[in-house]
Amino acid sequence: MTTHDIRQRYLTFFASRGHQTISASSLIPENDPTTLFTGSGMQPMVPYLLGQTHPLGKRLTDSQPCFRSQDIEEVGDNRHTTFFEMLGNWSLGDYFKKEQIPWMFAFLTDELGLDASRLSVTIFAGNKAIGIDRDQESEALWQEAFRAKDLDPEGRIFAYDEKKNWWSRAGIPAHMPEGEPGGPDSELFWDFGAERKLHERSVYKDQPCHVNCDCGRFLEIGNNVFMQYKKSGEGFVDLPNQNVDFGGGLERIAAALADTPDIFLIDVFAEALHVIESLSKKSYRSDSIDAKAFRVILDHVRAASFLIADGVIPSNKDQGYFVRRLIRRAVRFGSRLGIKEPFCLSVAKAFVHEYVQAYPHIAKQQEQIVREIGAEELKFRKTLQNGEKEFDKLFAQHSHISGQDAFLLYATYGFPLELTEEIAEEKGQQVDRETFKQEFKNHQDLSRAGSSEKFTGGLADHSEETVKLHTATHLLHQALRTVLNDQVFQRGSNITHKRLRFDFSYPEKMTPEQIQQVEAMVNDQIQKDLPVHFELLDLAEAKRRGAIGVFEDKYAQLGRQIKVYFIGDQAMEAYFSKEVCGGPHVEHTGQLGHFKITKEESVAAGIRRIKAELS
Ligand code: ALA
Repeated sequence: MTTHDIRQRYLTFFASRGHQTISASSLIPENDPTTLFTGSGMQPMVPYLLGQTHPLGKRLTDSQPCFRSQDIEEVGDNRHTTFFEMLGNWSLGDYFKKEQIPWMFAFLTDELGLDASRLSVTIFAGNKAIGIDRDQESEALWQEAFRAKDLDPEGRIFAYDEKKNWWSRAGIPAHMPEGEPGGPDSELFWDFGAERKLHERSVYKDQPCHVNCDCGRFLEIGNNVFMQYKKSGEGFVDLPNQNVDFGGGLERIAAALADTPDIFLIDVFAEALHVIESLSKKSYRSDSIDAKAFRVILDHVRAASFLIADGVIPSNKDQGYFVRRLIRRAVRFGSRLGIKEPFCLSVAKAFVHEYVQAYPHIAKQQEQIVREIGAEELKFRKTLQNGEKEFDKLFAQHSHISGQDAFLLYATYGFPLELTEEIAEEKGQQVDRETFKQEFKNHQDLSRAGSSEKFTGGLADHSEETVKLHTATHLLHQALRTVLNDQVFQRGSNITHKRLRFDFSYPEKMTPEQIQQVEAMVNDQIQKDLPVHFELLDLAEAKRRGAIGVFEDKYAQLGRQIKVYFIGDQAMEAYFSKEVCGGPHVEHTGQLGHFKITKEESVAAGIRRIKAELS
C-alpha cells in the first residue's frame, strides 16, 4: 500500500460513513492575516468549529498539506518534517466520541491492517483548575476497542494532563486567547519496539520509556480532538456544538505501516532520495552521520516545492523568507554531502513526479518551482562566495574571527556558522560559539516576539473591512483579465483590514493607462451594486461555467464539490466575475465604496503585485 493509497483509503472510509470530501486549502491561509501558514487541517475549519454552518454539512473529511515553520531546526531526526499531510475528519455537532474512537480504531486496524497490539493511546487526565474532568468516556471506549481484539487494555491507555492531552491552535489552556476553541484530545501511538537512548538533556532521561518520552520507540500517528470548549473571560464555556477534529499524520501512518521508524524511508521520498544518492555518490543509511543531511534536503526541497506551487516566492519577508531559508539550508546540507553542483532542482523534479497524481497543481506549477528553486540556489551559492570574501576582510582587520563577526556573517550574508568555523580552523583558529549563540538567541527572541504578536490577533479575520477587500480582490482579478488578457492568473493574495495585495502572472509592467482602466472597471462594478452569491458545483461544472481560481483543480481527481462565487445578475446570468473561493464575501458590491490602486510593482520574473484600498 503506497502513501497515496492510504490517503485514498482514508477518504473513502469516511466518505462511506456519510462524510463529504472537502478540498484542501492553500498552504498560505487566504484572507487570514493572523498566521503565515496552514499548520493543521483544522485551521481553515475554525469558523465552522465555532458554530457557523458549513455548506457541505456536518461530516467532512480531507487531506490537508501543512507547513510548520517552527520545526525547521528539528528536521534531521527520523520523524520530524516541516511539510506533511494531515488526514482530517470532522464532526460539526454531529457524532462524537462513541463513533470517532471505534471508527479510528477500525480504520487503523481493519482497513489498513496495523497490528492492534502495537497501538497505544492517551486520554485527558482532567484538570480541576479549568473545571474539566478526566475523559472517562474515551478511556472506556478504548478499553472496549482493545478488548474486542482480545487485547488487555492495561498498559495501552495512558492519561496525561493538559500539557499533553489538550489541543488548541495556541497550545495549552493558559495560552489560549479569548474566543479560541479547544478541547481535550486522545492521541494514537505506534510502537516500533526498539527503545533508544535519550539525549543527555532530555527531561525523560531517568524515567522508564513511555509513549510521550520522545525516545523514538513510540511515534504519534494521529490525534482525536474533542473540540467542545471556547476560552472566555470567565474560563471555559461550551461551544455551540460538540465537535470532533481528527488529525492524522499521513507520512507517519505510512511509516507505521511499513514498520520503519525512519519516515524518510517511505515511498514518497524514494525517488528524491535516489537523486541525492547518485549526486553525492553516498548511500542513505538511517544510522549514518550523513542521515541528517539527506533528511534536511528531502524535507526542505519538498516543502519549498509545495509552497512555491501555492504562490510563495523566495524573499526576505513573510512566507518568502521561509522558502528562502529552506532552499539555503538544503544547499548547505548538500555541500556537507560533498555535492558540488547545483542540485536542488533535480530533487524538486523528483518530488513533482512523485506527487503529480495526488496534487495535479504541482505539475502545473513545475516551471515556476524549478525556476524559483534554481534561481535561489544560484543566488545562495554566490552569497557563499561573497561571504568568504567578507570573511577574509574581517580576518585581515581583526586577525581573528570573533563570535560577533561570525554572527554578522550569518545575519548579513547568510553565511553559516559551520562554514565560518571551518575556514577559521584552516587558519588555525576557533570561533567563540558562545558569543555567536548569544547573538543568535537575542535575534531569535526578537523574531519570536514578532510571530506571537501575529497569533494574538486571534481567529481568522472576517471583519467587515477584510470581507469587503476580499470581494474587491475578485473584481480586480476579473478586471485585470479583461484589460490585460486572460493569461492573468492569481499567484497570491493577502488581505489586511487596510488593504488588499494581489500577485498575478503578467510579463510586463502595467502602463498608467492600464492601471486607470482597471481601477475604473472595478469602480463601475461597485456603482452597479451587483449582487454576490455562491453555488456549490463539482469541478467539471465549475469549469464549464467559466469559473476562474488559482486552486481550481488541485484536487480534481477526488470529485469534490467546490464553492464558486458569482458577482452579477443571477436572473440574467450576467456575471462580471465567477471565481472558485471559500468566501466570505459582501452581499452587494455597492457596500465596497471607492476602489483605489496604490501600487503596481514586480515581485519576481513574470509576476506583478498590486496593492489597493477601499475608502
Ligand atoms: N487539530 C489537531 C492537530 O493538529 C488534530 O493535531
